[in-house]
Amino acid sequence: MISLDDLKAMGRSLDGQILTTLDQDKEFKIEFVEEMGFIFTPVSSGKPRKHQFRYAQEVLKRYNETKSWHPRDYRDITRNASYVLPLIQLVEEKKRTRILRTPIIAGNWKMNTTVAEAVSLVMAMKDRLDAIKGVEKVVCPPFVSLVAVGEVLIGSSIAVGAQNMYSEEKGAYTGEVSALMLAGLCQYVILGHSERRGYFGETDEIVNKKIKAALKAGLKPIVCVGETLEENEGGKTGEVITRQVRAALDGLVSLENLVIAYEPIWAIGTGRAATEEQANTTIRLIRNVVGGLYGAAAQELRIQYGGSTNSANIAALMAQPEIDGALVGGASLKADEFVSMVKQTAQAKQRRR
Ligand code: PGA
Repeated sequence: MISLDDLKAMGRSLDGQILTTLDQDKEFKIEFVEEMGFIFTPVSSGKPRKHQFRYAQEVLKRYNETKSWHPRDYRDITRNASYVLPLIQLVEEKKRTRILRTPIIAGNWKMNTTVAEAVSLVMAMKDRLDAIKGVEKVVCPPFVSLVAVGEVLIGSSIAVGAQNMYSEEKGAYTGEVSALMLAGLCQYVILGHSERRGYFGETDEIVNKKIKAALKAGLKPIVCVGETLEENEGGKTGEVITRQVRAALDGLVSLENLVIAYEPIWAIGTGRAATEEQANTTIRLIRNVVGGLYGAAAQELRIQYGGSTNSANIAALMAQPEIDGALVGGASLKADEFVSMVKQTAQAKQRRR
């Protein structure tokens, strides 16, 4: 739905500029008159035409109903539709780009690499990753390598993430790392990964606490959700995902700085990725669940897919409209493979624009 206010705002910002009509590529100047409407002056004739807001309102009403770009469909309202329609088109474009979600590819190195190995891995990809535009790139080494990897990446466009953290700020929690400690070392933190849920007993409630602590410290959580094979085969995917998403977001006032990763457990490290349709469908479901809680903001939330992604299947996955990137495990440990995945993501998303 485009409102008259949207159109006015666009008119104001374009005052004095030259546009072209959609049908015959005819150039015209647009002027915005606050109390009246628009003045359109075709460059060829130089003869100004007044278009009052009340006509614009009528045109908008019909446009919202019919989505027609043909001036003839508005002839009974105004003879100036060919000048208003390009303006409406610009408003549509602006709305679309506003919800454009920058794709994000994050490499989850898991419990792999010594500090020296982590440094050589990140050095092997740094320059090539840096050169790829239009994709946010994140590497998540083990805690002990965060500092060294961060130092290699100073001045680059590649962000660093941790793989976990504890929800308390500090205290007698032997062996744990808090959000405050991570805040200076990295920008992202993976939370609720199925390996944490499965091997270390992390519940929805624990994950929720960690998300809140991370956000409070200025970290951006990548929150993982996903169903087991049994749940998937039992037709329980929707139910499980809905529960996990609702619990993870419980009590959050905004979705800002949050990324969700849909990682079906049966696809992680198994070489058996979800099909692009499966991933897209479940991610749409996640977006709908989030939409039920946060409304339109859900359209701006980035939701990744994770589970056996590699350079051979990434392009098809990223061609899907709902999938905003990937959380990559095994393939992120190979520089060439990871760089290729980021590159293919940039291309796939570019094609969709
Ligand atoms: P995988 O792991 O790409 O090795 O399947 C994904 C993940 O666990 O994030």
